[in-house]
Amino acid sequence: MKVFILNGPNLNMLGEREPAIYGTDTLDDVESMCLKRGADLGLEVDFRQTNDEDELVRWLQQAGKEVSGVIINPAAFTHYSLAVRDALAATKLPAIEVHISNIYAREEWRAKSVVSGVVTAVIAGCGTYGYVLAIEALAKILKGEK
Ligand code: DQA
Repeated sequence: MKVFILNGPNLNMLGEREPAIYGTDTLDDVESMCLKRGADLGLEVDFRQTNDEDELVRWLQQAGKEVSGVIINPAAFTHYSLAVRDALAATKLPAIEVHISNIYAREEWRAKSVVSGVVTAVIAGCGTYGYVLAIEALAKILKGEK
């Protein structure tokens, strides 16, 4: 089974960007971790990052046709992109929203996610390990386990 792991703006800067908040792993490190855990669980992971809202929407539209589930860290789009929310809802796929940081323990505006209402689950504040937790949860969901 194939799944998308989609990453929004500035996550290409992981490792250099505010390491006290986001840690020192690079996005390549996160991708390696996800590919490995996905393979262990029988999932083919297609891991992507974009700084472009249009591209993210197009990937979500593609997801609806091509994959079994989505893990998404929409980054700043989390807080205002109704286009990303609507595209995610339209996939009708199991989806897990991941945030490296605990968005509820930071600035007030960051605690609002316009995406959370259309996903199956949210993981926030576990650092980059949150992606691994999301793969494990998605694998269970796709196998029909509770
Ligand atoms: C983030 C949290 C967002 O508020 C922020 O804009 C990001 C990363 C996280 O992973 O903690 O870019 O999604």
